[in-house]
Amino acid sequence: MNIQNQIAATAPYTPGFGNHHATEAVPGALPVGRNSPQKPPFGLYAEQLSGTAFTAPRHENRRSWLYRLRPSAEHPPYTRYQGAKRFAPGTVNEPLPPNRLRWDPITASPAGTDLIDGITTMLANRDPADLEGVAVHVYAADKHMDRRAFVDADGELLFIPQAGRLDLLTELGRIEVAPGQVALIPRGVRFRALLPDGQARGYIAENHGAMFRLPDLGPIGANGLANPRDFETPAAWFEDRDQPFELVQKYLGSLWTTNLDHSPLDVVAWHGNLAPFRYDLSRFNTMNTVSFDHPDPSIFTVLTSPSDVPGRANADFVIFPPRWMVAEDTFRPPWFHRNIMSEAMGLITGAYDAKAEGFQPGGLSLHNLMSGHGPDVASWRGASEAELKPHKIDGTMAFMVETCWPYRLTEHARDHAQPDYDSCWQGFPKARIE
Ligand SMILES: [Fe+2]
Repeated sequence: MNIQNQIAATAPYTPGFGNHHATEAVPGALPVGRNSPQKPPFGLYAEQLSGTAFTAPRHENRRSWLYRLRPSAEHPPYTRYQGAKRFAPGTVNEPLPPNRLRWDPITASPAGTDLIDGITTMLANRDPADLEGVAVHVYAADKHMDRRAFVDADGELLFIPQAGRLDLLTELGRIEVAPGQVALIPRGVRFRALLPDGQARGYIAENHGAMFRLPDLGPIGANGLANPRDFETPAAWFEDRDQPFELVQKYLGSLWTTNLDHSPLDVVAWHGNLAPFRYDLSRFNTMNTVSFDHPDPSIFTVLTSPSDVPGRANADFVIFPPRWMVAEDTFRPPWFHRNIMSEAMGLITGAYDAKAEGFQPGGLSLHNLMSGHGPDVASWRGASEAELKPHKIDGTMAFMVETCWPYRLTEHARDHAQPDYDSCWQGFPKARIE
């Protein structure tokens, strides 16, 4: 049978976080009852993609079986990739000042830049070979990845669009993701990105550590925060294109390239629980105080990547969504604080309640290990004098990628930080002891 390129007739997404899925873009392509039959249907090649060690505990074990037109092993040697000069350049090897830092949105990429070449790495910690740590990238692109695909061996990629949709064509299905949504592509899954709106900007959190999972809810109970059913995994989809393709890979902190004579997005059917997904941040069931005090921001955790120390995240993805503020006798914005955890913050839309100005959608800030931060003077004054009636923070979505490993700067980040961020904490009136 000649397999035609087609999109599955079934619903394009199925709900659930970390579920086992079984999906085929062509009826009959998925073997029944075994993973690796002697002759898979249509002569497809069976291939296992593991996201955890074979012997990981069952509740953490993640893998999928892929049935494809050609094995992914079929490629010539990789050579160093010469594009994407600001993607994965490593961090600067010099003492890191204990300064708070903030960046304006990155300037647009040159015309004709696709997602791969439009990525700028800003912050990173650890070595990807440690299988720990996280990197924060920003991207700006205005060109489809047509006969180019990308794969990241160093970690899973959490896309956080800020402007413009991404159509992520992955080995395991197509995901369209818009600002206000996020999408995750697991480590090792090949994909290319189309830009339905002609251009796109946003952030990427690259998690080198344990895969993102839903946080435990403790006394919150069985429901709340990000609910499992709101995560959407795509149905199998593939393209049958016998054309030259470039495959770029991020591997141990460097970019590499190889050439194929076909699209690597040729998985006709798959089953398993290692798969890309998307999530609409407006589905987040936000918790907050209904009495007093500003709770710790851990109540806003969407996804967490644990470290080996209980309760200490390798990376937390945290959002600050629209919500009612009703606390009595309380300074309602974030308090002043110094943390052992390190915080990278981005802004998708609107304004953040601890900063009156200077933190723009598309911008980024860094508050590393033990850096004193909190509301700027204008936000402090406003919140200190505000009438404490119920108030809805609306039209905003900020996020944080918090990590136990202090972030280090790339050269681009070091050289493009706002020069005057510290000034937002200048001019607080001194407390008077009388
Ligand atoms: Fe903070």
